[in-house]
Amino acid sequence: MIGNLITLVILVGIVVLFAWLTWRAWKSKRALLKWVGVVGAGLLTLLFALVTLVIAKGFFDMYRPYPVAAVNVSIAGTPEQLARGEYLAGFLCASCHSQNGELPLTGGGNLSAETGMPLGDVYAPNITPAGKLQELSDADLFRILRTGVEPGGRLTGMSFFPVRHLSDDDAKAIIAYLRQAQPVQGARPPLNPSPLFLTFVGLGFISPQAADSPIQPVIAPPKAANKEYGEYVANFGSCSDCHGPALDGNAPPPAPPGATNLTVVMPQWSKDDFFKAMRTGVDRDGHQISPPMPWKQIGKLDDVELEALYEYLHALTPTVAKK
Ligand code: HEC
Ligand code: HEC
Repeated sequence: MIGNLITLVILVGIVVLFAWLTWRAWKSKRALLKWVGVVGAGLLTLLFALVTLVIAKGFFDMYRPYPVAAVNVSIAGTPEQLARGEYLAGFLCASCHSQNGELPLTGGGNLSAETGMPLGDVYAPNITPAGKLQELSDADLFRILRTGVEPGGRLTGMSFFPVRHLSDDDAKAIIAYLRQAQPVQGARPPLNPSPLFLTFVGLGFISPQAADSPIQPVIAPPKAANKEYGEYVANFGSCSDCHGPALDGNAPPPAPPGATNLTVVMPQWSKDDFFKAMRTGVDRDGHQISPPMPWKQIGKLDDVELEALYEYLHALTPTVAKK
């Protein structure tokens, strides 16, 4: 935060400097110097003013206090709930909250390295009972999953991820699992977004979509191998993070480039093609699916959920755009 504040002060200084140079050029008696100076310094003033405004907006969105939504949860911790929670945590949380993509959730590597962009320190913390979990009640955890906001009103990095689409039952199952998971010591550096990160926030490419909203109940369709349930899996499973909101391969940065247009590819694939691709990492053309496509994670879904996901994607209407 201090680093970003200093960056902003320097940027404002640069804007003032170029504005002053523009004014000096305007006052010049020599025509050539006057117009070259006014246009050149004037454009630079505008450019830096724009960059400063975008970063300032990102700074405000990131660091302003957010409402701490009211929430009331009680978690029984039944054996079914624990099993469901462990399964979901392995599919959904381990990709970021662990070094090797497997449970336990001892904390991950720097996500900014994965995007190949200097986004700052973006580590998913240790959320075993010996880590961050100690400081958070069940209600706090539920709120973090839904809105991404911490008890004190701080916006956490979680607000940028689509885990808010998890149903009440699934979110509670995950919390039940977290509480009784094996405790592991160790901490990751706190979130420290770079000016580029703030630029993406300022532009709305990464946005805390639910942070200001009250918490509404989310009910999943009954678990079955159909496209209604598949849409639910696709939503909480964050396919749109990389494949774009319309799943047509168009997602703004910092989403990694090169994600497939699923609306074109998936209607052509058979169920077996899809199962083989997600369970082995090799698609029907023999192409080895490359990172960051998380096929290993997706392949952990049980047969019913994977088939549901297939049914949903297979029924998409192809949109032109890129393949
Ligand atoms: C795409 C990556 C990603 C995924 C997936 C993810 N997290 Fe996180 N999580 C993060 C990052 C990054 C932070 C650090 C945020 C911060 O400190 O602002 C975080 C922080 C947290 C925190 C601590 C928030 C705090 O108070 O500082 C909890 C609890 C948490 N995640 C739970 C989960 C659970 C449960 C799941 C699975 C349902 C999950 N996360 C999935 C990246 C992820
Ligand atoms: C972190 C980014 C990311 C996420 C999240 C993601 N994908 Fe992908 N996906 C990619 C990239 C990149 C490719 C292209 C990989 C390649 O061609 O080797 C891809 C390719 C694919 C392909 C085509 C593979 C092929 O060989 O043609 C399918 C199918 C697919 N993704 C399905 C999904 C589904 C379903 C989800 C959500 C459950 C999902 N993806 C989530 C990045 C992602």
